[in-house]
Amino acid sequence: MRNLISIDDLTNEEIEEIFSLADASDKLRADRPASGEIMATLFYEPSTRTRLSFESAMQRLGGSVISCSDMKASSTAKGETVADTAKVVSSYADVLVVRHNWDGTVLAMAEHANVPVINAGDGSHEHPTQTLCDLYTLRKEKGELKGLNVVLCGDLKNGRTIHSLVYALARFGANVVTLAANGMALPQYVIERLEREYDYALAPVASDDLNAVVTETDALYLTPKQPHELALYTQVDQVIQARLNTMATGLRYDAFYMTRKQKERMKEGTTDTSYPTIGPNFLREQRFQDTVVMHPLPRVDELSPEVDGDRRGIYFKQAAYGVPVRMALLKFLFDRRAEKRKPSRHAIPYQSPEPIGPQCRNPNCVTVREPISSRRRFEIVSSGQANALILACAYCDHRFKVQIGGNVQSKKYYVFDSALASTFRDWLKKDELALFDSIKEAEELDYEPFKSGPHRVLMTESDIHTALANMSGQILHDCRELSRLLILGVRGAGSQLARRLAKEIVQQANHNPEVGEIEIYGSGDELKRLLPDAREAEPLNLKDREVILVDDVIFTGRTVKSALSIIFRSARPQSVRLAVLIDRGHREIPVKPNYVGKHIPSSESDRVRVKLSELEPGERDQVIIYTIMNPSEEARRTARNSEFTAK
Ligand code: CP
Repeated sequence: MRNLISIDDLTNEEIEEIFSLADASDKLRADRPASGEIMATLFYEPSTRTRLSFESAMQRLGGSVISCSDMKASSTAKGETVADTAKVVSSYADVLVVRHNWDGTVLAMAEHANVPVINAGDGSHEHPTQTLCDLYTLRKEKGELKGLNVVLCGDLKNGRTIHSLVYALARFGANVVTLAANGMALPQYVIERLEREYDYALAPVASDDLNAVVTETDALYLTPKQPHELALYTQVDQVIQARLNTMATGLRYDAFYMTRKQKERMKEGTTDTSYPTIGPNFLREQRFQDTVVMHPLPRVDELSPEVDGDRRGIYFKQAAYGVPVRMALLKFLFDRRAEKRKPSRHAIPYQSPEPIGPQCRNPNCVTVREPISSRRRFEIVSSGQANALILACAYCDHRFKVQIGGNVQSKKYYVFDSALASTFRDWLKKDELALFDSIKEAEELDYEPFKSGPHRVLMTESDIHTALANMSGQILHDCRELSRLLILGVRGAGSQLARRLAKEIVQQANHNPEVGEIEIYGSGDELKRLLPDAREAEPLNLKDREVILVDDVIFTGRTVKSALSIIFRSARPQSVRLAVLIDRGHREIPVKPNYVGKHIPSSESDRVRVKLSELEPGERDQVIIYTIMNPSEEARRTARNSEFTAK
């Protein structure tokens, strides 16, 4: 049995097959292949197009439809779980079409249903059947998807149609320009999936190139890595800026895909910021004469009705294709009821062997909203940073990092370090790996800490203070305009050091710089203001700022790479310089810090920890180094010499 939860549940060949079936929808209508079948539509959120086109498609295939006109009038109102609803309704129907406001809910329901389940939109996660309509429309208009330049415009953060579409465009070899409204950039987990699974990279586009649409938004170009390599610049000087601009200027734009602001998914109190619009200016631009305008609809005021009568405005055609495409999809899924869903090729699945384990950080994920309907499952995306594993939630795809892992047999826990990667991998293969969100969780299950090698103090409290004072002096020396200075710490030790650098700057220059925090593997806002005041609803503006990115230790450079990607997606700062307390000198990625507290070349098995009193109350500030004992080596050593105990 096959479900359609993500656009990745279909191969490119299968999508082409669905399109061929859609091309022959008249024949499908005549053949009535769904005669005697029942489709149930369960829409927990409003819909016009998706629901009615699915219902029309099923009836045109000869099948019939059962539905609940308002899910609030179903037993959901009495507290029935989505799991129970799925179990029950799948005994009344042969296929379920579900829309829900929580990310990942449709997958959770599919796990409890015994008929195919189709995702008609889950929170801000995915909307794969809209993507089928979008690709079908683009192919009809432009012939081939490969090599097309498609501009995705508007709310790219919350727009589920965007997330499914961007993966599909990448798979078919199209290039994507993202033109996000302020604070609504494509989420980092989507960008990283594009990089990891599709070998796509980001480059900025000259915003002048798109002024016809909006002036206040920076564009980014997503394209297969060749010929445009991902640009990593800690200092955007004028020469580099010019190079970046020429990289993607003068593009041929084949389609603008406009989206509405997803107000229903925004936090209460979010201030209304400017939003890109397409109107008469667009129609007058000579260079957009062959650029089609698409929109999943409904529209609010981002797309002027003046475009409706123009040959390039194809969004009503796009909505009309919903019926033949969904007829084709239903036929395709009915024909494959005997097939199994293919597992993901890209990552290692993980499910905790213990009753306590990591929890998805996305507050709108079904695993958080209704844990009873789902089994927390993840993919281990990478051992990305030197000191953390990166997990992706199997339901909503959000990424987050986990640092504590243990072995279910030995009941010992460890703070993850790259030196432990192969050991953790072995345990995972044997289902012995238990990951935890905190040491407290591990200890609640009677796990004990594993002992590490002896500690050596590399920097004392006063060394750290002196280093930060020196770094602040250098930052002030290099700063062109103090009012543009923004100290941006990587969440954790980085943001504490950013606050301390800012304090030093106040003392040395009597200037109170703005301080922000960047979250690399979070599920909420990636950039937020810390000082002078943390006004939650107001996005941190990086445009034209002199950004000092601060972290405690640089080792592989991957954290910095991810941070730069977030920064450049958010806006085009005037410059980004990097400040680290410790430079370990083992970078995989060629990023050179501009300000360093201390250079400490160290081997992979060394662990360097920056202990700060703000994060470890009762402890003094210190930088320590110790060796991570590989647990399997340690076990061998213990067998050879029972007196050996690492401290
Ligand atoms: N495009 C789309 O999903 O429209 P509806 O919300 O009306 O279904």
